[in-house]
Amino acid sequence: MRSHYCGDVNETLEGQTVTVAGWMHRRRDHGGVIFIDLRDREGLVQVVCNPDDAESFAVAERVRSEYVLQIEGVVNLRPEGSDNPDLNSGKIEIIAKRLDILNSSETPPFPLSEQAEVSEDVRLRHRYIDLRRPEMLQKLRFRSQITRVLRNFLDDNGFLDIETPILTKATPEGARDYLVPSRTHAGSFFALPQSPQLFKQLLMVSGMDRYYQVVRCFRDEDLRADRQPEFTQLDIETSFVEEEDLMSMMEEMIRKLFANVLEQSLPNPFPRMTYAEAMARYGSDKPDLRIPLELIEVSDLMKEVDFKVFSDPANDEKSRVTALRVPNGSNLSRKEIDDYTKYVGIYGAKGLAYIKINDIDAGREGLQSPILKFLPDEVVEAILKRTHSQTGDLIFFGADKASIVNEALGALRVKLGHDLGLVEHGWKPLWVVAFPMFEWDEKAERWTALHHPFTAPRQSDIALLETDPGKCLSRAYDMVLNGTELGGGSIRIHKADVQSQVFKLLGIAQEEADDKFGFLLDALKYGCPPHGGLAFGLDRLAMLMTGSASIRDVMAFPKTQSASCPLTNAPSAVSDAQLKELNIRLRKAPTISDTSE
Ligand code: AMO
Ligand code: AMP
Repeated sequence: MRSHYCGDVNETLEGQTVTVAGWMHRRRDHGGVIFIDLRDREGLVQVVCNPDDAESFAVAERVRSEYVLQIEGVVNLRPEGSDNPDLNSGKIEIIAKRLDILNSSETPPFPLSEQAEVSEDVRLRHRYIDLRRPEMLQKLRFRSQITRVLRNFLDDNGFLDIETPILTKATPEGARDYLVPSRTHAGSFFALPQSPQLFKQLLMVSGMDRYYQVVRCFRDEDLRADRQPEFTQLDIETSFVEEEDLMSMMEEMIRKLFANVLEQSLPNPFPRMTYAEAMARYGSDKPDLRIPLELIEVSDLMKEVDFKVFSDPANDEKSRVTALRVPNGSNLSRKEIDDYTKYVGIYGAKGLAYIKINDIDAGREGLQSPILKFLPDEVVEAILKRTHSQTGDLIFFGADKASIVNEALGALRVKLGHDLGLVEHGWKPLWVVAFPMFEWDEKAERWTALHHPFTAPRQSDIALLETDPGKCLSRAYDMVLNGTELGGGSIRIHKADVQSQVFKLLGIAQEEADDKFGFLLDALKYGCPPHGGLAFGLDRLAMLMTGSASIRDVMAFPKTQSASCPLTNAPSAVSDAQLKELNIRLRKAPTISDTSE
């Protein structure tokens, strides 16, 4: 139906007859001549309809926004001075000889211009129109390029692309499962995979050696800008490897990706940081290294001070007191400090003490702070020295349980970085390593896995599983980029007895372990090779690489924050007949599906 894409018609085709097809983007009536900008995937081309060609002119007069047209015409150079340097076709125009309307269109619910402010709900409801916008198209095209480069790398390195089931059994990755009722086994349910973790390990037992898959994962969890209930992983597993082998290969893949797609060179090797260091300096296991602010431990200075808010946590090993120096922060207003205090409150912080350094040479007189009265001279001096403070700075303090201080000051650090324009330009990848195997869940009074329960403990720490699980470090690694966890993985447990021991520690009784993971425990007994792998969040990668604010912008048909789809109205009620067939009786009438954000 066409000889060329609109966006590909250019001056090399001068004098030739071409046929193009696409959507009517814009129409201008210029003193008897009608100009049509015709749009397709590759861009725009200007078509000129002259009144002396009565038939096509008559059609041109009828076309409206988003009509689908097929146009045949001759490529002409544009008159001097009317070039459009923004378009690939900007030096030419097509003089229409024949113009056919292939389909009409109702007036679109929103204009397709980039400037138009349209609510996301409306955009998602009419996603097929939203995706016509060049910036959306560009993002999906970019995403396709990312997947292609990654696949090529893995193919070149001997990985096999193998599919794993979607109707399966629960895989614990820390979220709730999406369940699918079975018709043939009344009362039983499949779970959609939170990840293909167990299957990829089984593929290693089978001897596939190197596996990858671009795979949909499903997690029923609280959604945020970088989380969706269904999302895509680039999932990878390999046999006979150790951390170094995997990390260096994965780094190389990501470096190639950035070089190939963005022409950006990432560091070689990526910096590495232990979990303990990341938490101590940044309050986060995914630190954004573009922000030059750090938490500075001052617990040791606060042990004796006459201010219980500080001295209590300073004397408790599960708590900490930290300082966060903000260069030139002394001009923050009272209101701004109050707002930051409210902000850290979201994370459970009970306050946000501060010292303003108006004049570092003026002793206590040069400082301004609601807590100065509690701090003796030598403590004040030590704080100023340790934080390398200067006149004009401000120091914030967090004192509480370490988890609260980390979350609160970690988030404050990022917020300040953005608010004060301190975020450096560019890409700052790193590996975070040496994670603890377990975290103590205070509420449930039990250990939980920091990654998933199949992560191997460090060989040297295996004895700690018995004696001091909290100190046991794992063989996990996370790849972090600009404050986002891009991917994570580990060397796995490949011995059945160690796996059973870890299940036991996690409070999974033998019977439950057999029921849920018996097939894995069995497989480990039949010659399971040492193996490991990781999974990247492909949507997150695309989000970062396209500079998008949300992963919804790099997914063709995403769900809203409330995990629904305004386009199809999913999830929705089903007929009684269907429920009956599934042997399901509802305890509550279904709620009308809520498509609001
Ligand atoms: P993990 O749970 O860390 O590991 O997931 C791997 C990566 O997937 C991305 N991700 C998400 N992206 C969008 N929406 C979500 N809801 C979401 N949840 C996770 C993140 C994350 O780093 N089986 C292990 C991997 C392994 O051990 O090999 C796993 O799934 O970018
Ligand atoms: P107060 O004695 O409660 O008036 O607090 C004195 C100062 O300490 C105020 O600036 C509070 O914001 C701050 N503050 C209170 N609790 C904490 C805390 N847990 N961590 C950091 N600062 C705090």
